[in-house]
Amino acid sequence: MRKKEEYDEFAPNYDKNVRARGYVGPEYMVSFLLELVTAQKTSIVPHHPATKVLDVGCGTGLVGKALKREGFLHLDGIDYSQGMLLEAYQTKAYQTLIGWCDLNKELPFFLLNQYDITICCGVFALDFVKPEALNWLIRVTKPGGLIIMNTKTTYCNTYDFEGYYKKMEQMKHLKLIEKRMNKPYLGNEADAHYWAFSIPNTQKKILTNG
Ligand SMILES: C[S@@+](CC[C@H](N)C(=O)[O-])C[C@H]1O[C@@H](n2cnc3c(N)ncnc32)[C@H](O)[C@@H]1O
Repeated sequence: MRKKEEYDEFAPNYDKNVRARGYVGPEYMVSFLLELVTAQKTSIVPHHPATKVLDVGCGTGLVGKALKREGFLHLDGIDYSQGMLLEAYQTKAYQTLIGWCDLNKELPFFLLNQYDITICCGVFALDFVKPEALNWLIRVTKPGGLIIMNTKTTYCNTYDFEGYYKKMEQMKHLKLIEKRMNKPYLGNEADAHYWAFSIPNTQKKILTNG
């Protein structure tokens, strides 16, 4: 597991390192999103200037760059590593980058219900975050919005992510749109499951973790 400080140090070499190992998570995620739009599984209009996207655990900005290439216009990013955010800043893919955000801690009040699309790539891996961090993603997303994310396959062997999202689904906090299991992620090293959830229009959210 890499801690915040380790990511700060890793940041300048992150892209080169993961690309050499065959990292395709960001590109797979963005294709997945566009396929959902084409198949009309979501009513969100990705390229509309008013459509706000939040990249959670944006790291050096690989997801942001992939989204920008596809014409996304309003993209913000959050991460708890300042070193990773500095790299993301240099991509110029993001309008706003927010630091000091830890998915294992309270959601800052100003992020509640803000985003049409919340995207989270490479964060539900090993023990960075527990499945409960899904609740953080739910609460930043507007009612009627979309969450698109992945979980490293080994993460789901350790944590009951499926059990947690089903609990959230029963409580009508979200609804599974599509899942894709064992898809490309990190070359020969690791696969991931990719998930798309919608947030019900009627969903009311409050500012507490849990
Ligand atoms: C494997 S990198 C993925 C970065 C980027 N999304 C990508 O796909 O290239 C994981 C990122 O999650 C961030 N991260 C890990 N745990 C976090 C937490 N609890 N809160 C906020 N960010 C976290 C790290 O700082 C790092 O930038």
